[in-house]
Amino acid sequence: MQKSANFKNALSQPVFKTISQASSNLQLECYVIGGFVRDYILRRGEAKDIDIVAVGSGIDLAQEVSRLLPGKPRVSIFKNYGTAMLKSGAVEIEFVGARKESYREDSRNPSVENGTLEDDQNRRDFTINALAISLQEDNFGTLLDPFNGIQDLENKIIRTPLDPDVTYSDDPLRMLRAIRFATQLNFMIERESLDAITRNANRIQIISEERIVVEINKILLTEVPSKGFALLHKTGLLPFIFPELVALEGIEEIEGQRHKDNFWHTLEVVDNISGTTDDLWLRWAALLHDIGKAPTKRFDKKIGWTFHGHEFVGSKMVYKIFKRLKLPLNEKMKFVQKMVLMSSRPIVLATEVTDSAVRRLIFDAGENVEDLMTLCEADITTKNPKKFKKYQNNFKLVRDKIVEVEERDHIRNFQPPVSGEEIMKTFGLQPSREIGIIKDAIKEAILEGEIPNEYEAAKKFMFAKGAELNLTPIE
Ligand code: CTP
Repeated sequence: MQKSANFKNALSQPVFKTISQASSNLQLECYVIGGFVRDYILRRGEAKDIDIVAVGSGIDLAQEVSRLLPGKPRVSIFKNYGTAMLKSGAVEIEFVGARKESYREDSRNPSVENGTLEDDQNRRDFTINALAISLQEDNFGTLLDPFNGIQDLENKIIRTPLDPDVTYSDDPLRMLRAIRFATQLNFMIERESLDAITRNANRIQIISEERIVVEINKILLTEVPSKGFALLHKTGLLPFIFPELVALEGIEEIEGQRHKDNFWHTLEVVDNISGTTDDLWLRWAALLHDIGKAPTKRFDKKIGWTFHGHEFVGSKMVYKIFKRLKLPLNEKMKFVQKMVLMSSRPIVLATEVTDSAVRRLIFDAGENVEDLMTLCEADITTKNPKKFKKYQNNFKLVRDKIVEVEERDHIRNFQPPVSGEEIMKTFGLQPSREIGIIKDAIKEAILEGEIPNEYEAAKKFMFAKGAELNLTPIE
């Protein structure tokens, strides 16, 4: 890790020289601060966003930078916040005046006063996000690290610059950010901070769902999301943001029969799937695949614990959860619903793999059949190595069978081989119930393997079915 105080190498992008020139023209100090500096030191790859803090007007600085840049990029000004933004190539640069802030108890809207760099660093969320590099000509590249952020980066620690109770109650979203950074970077949250989050957990309620879900999505997209959810659970934040998940926790025992803890099981499934896919929505499906188990849990003296219909109840809950969290209510949600609804289907199949059951699975899952298999494979969390191997092998068989059956029968984007129009013409029918009955019977016969998915065979079947319904062909 780079320890020297000079970070000129971090400023190799030409735009930093331009910003430096602009600040000198306006005779104000300015610094690059926050995520850019942190990620440079952690070597997390090229940053897309650059945050600049000016001791003076951020808006004036942005306008001067734009004037000096080729093509004079447009400056977006957010007057209420005193910030401005411009794009230089693919990089978004945000300018803000250094602030000294105090927050009111009941809101996260701060009352703002101009401040020094040090004031501004004080009011940032974490020591690792308060690192600043000077852009002044006379000390270009000098690191300003008043809270030992460099040390915390080395020791992998999340710590607040001020008393954590102050930092978190100033902006309660930071409690989630702490957990998100700890998960993303695999850092530890310092004890005092963790205690403060636990004490202030209920303050998360003043934060909008939109901002909360940004953090949840970022946690879900890490390598080991369970770390974040375990921290949300431990600090008591989870009941405020995701009560349905909390409801899955616990093991009940009646007459010596226990069921598994579906909260911790779910987290394992999310980690498993994160090893095979980066698809956010498939990860959401893993998080919600058992969500209907809490409301459907029953104890039956003969068969023990049951969760009848949890997939259906769960898929209905997906809508409510997406709506509350302001997640998109579009095809992404429908995909998650479908995965939850179908999540047990391949499991039943894995005990006995028949062609017709595979055809039905392909028909119902359509283009999502591989995603469904990925979810089911992630769902294997047994600690018994023999069972684990057995289930995995069975799913491998199902996957092979899917390929074989699909090659032969083309069920995936099923189009009825005989159209409704042809049925109408053949029997001289007006739009009627009979057409649906015949179409359905053809589909069923194909899925059951009674006839191949081909035109001639389907047409023959249509005549036979018509006869059963006392219909006569018109010629
Ligand atoms: N910040 C803060 N409190 C917040 C949000 C942001 O103090 N609730 C400060 C931090 O100094 C942070 C900077 O604003 O580094 C920029 O915030 P943002 O762009 O949201 O995060 P990054 O740190 O850049 O990280 P990421 O892009 O991973 O979210």
